[in-house]
Amino acid sequence: MTKILMVCLGNICRSPLAEGILKSKLPKSDFIVDSAGTGNYHVGDLPDKRSIQVAEKYGLDITNQRGRQFTVLDFDNFDLIYVMDESNYQNVIKLARNQDDVDKVNFILNEIYPNQNHSVPDPYTGGIQGFENTFKMLDEACNEIAFKLKNNK
Ligand code: 4NP
Repeated sequence: MTKILMVCLGNICRSPLAEGILKSKLPKSDFIVDSAGTGNYHVGDLPDKRSIQVAEKYGLDITNQRGRQFTVLDFDNFDLIYVMDESNYQNVIKLARNQDDVDKVNFILNEIYPNQNHSVPDPYTGGIQGFENTFKMLDEACNEIAFKLKNNK
């Protein structure tokens, strides 16, 4: 079983989309996909209405998800940890206990733009178009992740 964790700040906009998208591209029998936020503002909350709406538009139901905060135990429970931006990266790395922990963490857009550490911009304060853009970026990145994982690359 390979376990993948998607991380953003609130765990209501970007990482729930990333979780839903990647889950839809991988067989449940071999992969676990989850998401978390570095902040605790939305623990227990549903994803943002706009993330739910955009996911639905593309055929994904993410309403089973609830916000939770990233903890140090996630380094033990997951093999790969994808962050959305530099601030998520710093917040996750702060909790790393050793190099193995650090090595699990990567910017999700590095899957399409290797080593560039590009951010998936936070769509929270904008309109629905931002969520559309977020979905498209994450969908592209998740295609790459799923291809690699399914082909053991
Ligand atoms: P996310 O967006 O990190 O993509 O879930 C945010 C959602 C809520 C907040 C920040 C970012 N907030 O500060 O409440």
